[in-house]
Amino acid sequence: MDKWLDTIRGKAYHAVSCFIGHMNIIRRKESTLADKIKIVITDHLEPDFEWELERLPRDKIIFETYQLKHASEDDLIEKIKDADLVVVNMAPMTERVIESLERCKTIIRHGIGYDNVDLDAATKKGIRVANIPDYCPDEVAEHAIELIFAATRKVFLMRDILVDSSREGRWDFEPIYPIYSLKGKTLGIVGCGRIGSRVLKKMSGFEMNIIVCDPYLSDERKKELGIEVAPFEQVLREADVITMHTPLTDETRGMIGETELRAMKETAFLINTSRGPVVDLVALAKALREGWIAGAGIDVYEQEPPPLDMELFQLGSAVLTPHLGWYSEESNWSIREKILEDMLRFIDGKPPRFVVNKGVEDVLKQGGR
Ligand SMILES: NC(=O)c1ccc[n+]([C@@H]2O[C@H](COP(=O)([O-])OP(=O)(O)OC[C@H]3O[C@@H](n4cnc5c(N)ncnc54)[C@H](O)[C@@H]3O)[C@@H](O)[C@H]2O)c1
Repeated sequence: MDKWLDTIRGKAYHAVSCFIGHMNIIRRKESTLADKIKIVITDHLEPDFEWELERLPRDKIIFETYQLKHASEDDLIEKIKDADLVVVNMAPMTERVIESLERCKTIIRHGIGYDNVDLDAATKKGIRVANIPDYCPDEVAEHAIELIFAATRKVFLMRDILVDSSREGRWDFEPIYPIYSLKGKTLGIVGCGRIGSRVLKKMSGFEMNIIVCDPYLSDERKKELGIEVAPFEQVLREADVITMHTPLTDETRGMIGETELRAMKETAFLINTSRGPVVDLVALAKALREGWIAGAGIDVYEQEPPPLDMELFQLGSAVLTPHLGWYSEESNWSIREKILEDMLRFIDGKPPRFVVNKGVEDVLKQGGR
């Protein structure tokens, strides 16, 4: 009975929310925007925004949501040009899109990486860009570790072998050999920020030798983590497993290509949960096919979803996941809470918790918007 009542209540609530949402868009046309804050979500993963709308001051805002991930620049501009606050997941906030914004003061990137937002254009226009860096570091670190074990222990191949062995009525382990123990081997962590440092901590119990490459770590942070840093070339040369945790920048784009893959050990594994363009996947496929390295675990791709003819799909030594390193039920709620917090701060006239284009404050002081 309780469940039934909940369902009815839920449906009634949903209908009212949809109606109110619809009225909001209509009201926007009737009133001037001057007295309301317009928040636009360009593309979202949330099934609906009932939870947020219950907590936002509805009388002060106009709230519009879209799915414009693959929309044209013009369509995106049309929907966001008069927004005060834009929340964007994957939609590309190019220079032209940002230039077209008439009132926007803040762009919140739904996630950690913000390479789909043209930071220079936003800074020039006096728009703060914020990310949500603290919603899923443990999930991504766990995912990287899961890929390390899945790739080095050849977990998916083992399942295929089990099925084949059952079909033939005898054990045939031949295709699985060799597997090496991780104990005593070297793990190379490239990028030791929020996620990389968690991989460091969580992997510390596996009796591996861990080397870290991060030229931007402060001496204080190195001391805190109890590490020295190594040059990238040393990690390539010495590591049995390399796991990438850098942001995507001009410096890290293509950081692992043919030259780097050839510099790695033939028995080594490459793991990438950072950003697709950090690793050249065509070169990686060649490296796996020709045996320059032993295997890989990849969560992120240059094009997402990747094209069906991506060669890695044909290679059993590549463990592939669909950019879900960030996901758990807990992180899913965490990001909603943190974005809501930033929206409420915006409504109260406060900056978001994590501004990534620090130079914007100078532009704002000099009279930018
Ligand atoms: N797969 C997923 O679902 C998922 C989810 C969240 C974040 N990410 C990605 O994970 C990556 C890391 O995120 P984070 O929160 O740890 O970022 P972070 O900013 O906390 O840490 C990045 C670290 O990389 C270091 N770095 C920068 N350039 C470097 C270089 N050239 N060589 C070595 N180190 C370098 C920085 O000094 C910093 O310590 C980002 O690319 C982010 O987009 C992926």
